[in-house]
Amino acid sequence: MLRRRRAVRRFTNADVPREVLDRVVAAGVSGPTAGGSQGRSLLVLTSAADRDRFWRATSDDVDAPDAWLAGMTTAPVVVVCLAEPAVYVERYARPDKARAQPHLGPDPRDASAWPVPWWDVDAGASALLVLLAAVDTGLVGCLIGVPPDRWPRVRGAFGIPADQRLTAAVVLGHPAPDLPRSRRRPPVARVVHDGAHGRPWTATPG
Ligand SMILES: Cc1cc2nc3c(=O)[nH]c(=O)nc-3n(C[C@H](O)[C@H](O)[C@H](O)COP(=O)(O)O)c2cc1C
Repeated sequence: MLRRRRAVRRFTNADVPREVLDRVVAAGVSGPTAGGSQGRSLLVLTSAADRDRFWRATSDDVDAPDAWLAGMTTAPVVVVCLAEPAVYVERYARPDKARAQPHLGPDPRDASAWPVPWWDVDAGASALLVLLAAVDTGLVGCLIGVPPDRWPRVRGAFGIPADQRLTAAVVLGHPAPDLPRSRRRPPVARVVHDGAHGRPWTATPG
């Protein structure tokens, strides 16, 4: 299944059954979260009206789309992956996380001082889980970013609280015919280091 995954940006008009989506979204929120914070969530858009509102909130070109947008807007499902930093900073300010606090700056409640924003890590992992669970059910899709200058419009369109980050989105559906071939992946040995950076991982022969 993992080998089968590739970014797909154009879809047929076949619907995704609700039971299939049940599995996909449950998988999306099944992953680990930093400190067990659970400060990430999903907004699932399936109706044509909701998807249209999403694309109009994120782009000015829906009525005269380029090839990318024309393909993306054919997706029958859009999942927006949200992150809530406030949940994390509160969690890491609790006494049992005292050991982590020096790494997070003098005040763990200052989200801007965190060297790694775990809320985005968790929401990104959630996006990948959605995508992989979708592939596991026979669907295809693509992980995308939501332009940050459009976040206020998307929040307004769907009642998302102002403190939530729109870390990523995933479009899902059934693949359109005649899609371009997949990009080649780099050899594992080039991107996996074995014990020291620069020492390539060598796969076991056979
Ligand atoms: C964090 C992230 C953001 C991405 N954002 C976009 C995007 O905004 N638009 C897009 O078309 N693809 C986006 N992609 C998909 C990548 O372009 C795609 O995964 C990459 O070209 C490799 O192709 P593959 O997924 O078929 O291996 C994104 C992927 C990731 C992981």
